[in-house]
Amino acid sequence: MTERKTSPLTRWVAASALALAGAAPAFAQQGELVLYCSVQEEWCRPMVAAFEKATGIKVLMTRKSSGEFYAQIKAEAANPKGDVWWGGTGDPHLQAAEEGLTDPYVSPKLDELQDWAVRQARAAKFRTVGIYAGALGYSFNTTELAKRKLPEPKCWADLAKPIYKDEVQVANPNSSGTSYTMLATLVQIMGEQKGFDYLKALHKNINQYTKSGAAPARAVATGESLIGITFQHDAVIQAVGGAPVKIVSPCEGTGYEIGSMSIIKGAKNLANARRWYDWALAADGGQAVGAANKVSYQVPSNKKAPVPAQAPKLSQIKLIDYDFAKYGSSAERTRLLKKWDDEVSKLPK
Ligand code: F6P
Repeated sequence: MTERKTSPLTRWVAASALALAGAAPAFAQQGELVLYCSVQEEWCRPMVAAFEKATGIKVLMTRKSSGEFYAQIKAEAANPKGDVWWGGTGDPHLQAAEEGLTDPYVSPKLDELQDWAVRQARAAKFRTVGIYAGALGYSFNTTELAKRKLPEPKCWADLAKPIYKDEVQVANPNSSGTSYTMLATLVQIMGEQKGFDYLKALHKNINQYTKSGAAPARAVATGESLIGITFQHDAVIQAVGGAPVKIVSPCEGTGYEIGSMSIIKGAKNLANARRWYDWALAADGGQAVGAANKVSYQVPSNKKAPVPAQAPKLSQIKLIDYDFAKYGSSAERTRLLKKWDDEVSKLPK
């Protein structure tokens, strides 16, 4: 057999091709992750960029509110399209868990989390987990308040007063987890009958029910709305940005959220979903991204994660003992939303 002579260039091309062929499957293995993100877009984006950089996994992200993604995941249950649902209030995550729409996963990071985050995971038989916490409240535009010569609101009761007609903005509780938290909070503080009477009175003062929960905080910052009911951390973003806003913890007490994360049942990229899950719970991974980019003032669930100085101090806020088991249950959330649709949203202003 005669040996064929090859030039150094040919050998280099052949070796490079082999190396590339070897590298290609390794790169392909990193694959994709379909992420349903329920915090505000400004936080979703740096999370995706940081994860892609850390892992080489390509993330296909969509942002929608908590109630919207709950409904979408339910509608897609026969043919799931998403892998991870990251962020959004805990109630719809608990409902999805109860309805078997999400998959159990016990992350090795669980030991590093605050008790409230682990309780959330246990309550859902590990089909969800707490990733941050934050208190409900409202903010108002101090410049606009002075212009209108109105008194500073201090309580929930104040927001239903006729002097604030058309001056209050809040999201629709069907789409927004923030607004559902408000609904459930008022029912827990006032009792169901009085809570709904209050919501009917408040309805007269609402200038717009937005889709997303944080939108009213932005409307307050620009002066588009005088008052906005949101999580307090969403109003902090506006205050830090220099807007003339004051944040209120209502005098009667207030509810809070355990922002959550779940792996969608039937996830096509399950291994990558678990990599996101563990990374998102890591103090030096996803838990640090919000503070580093000044886009999140929630309290992170990993005990070692940095807490921004401006984050509302939950220990100094009069928090109610929010009953997550009850208000995150499928029957109660469905019933209360229907009642709000039937008895509040249809009322004339
Ligand atoms: O990202 C801000 C935030 O308020 C989260 O803390 C919360 O979980 C989420 O938005 C709720 O959004 P929505 O009310 O639109 O469902």
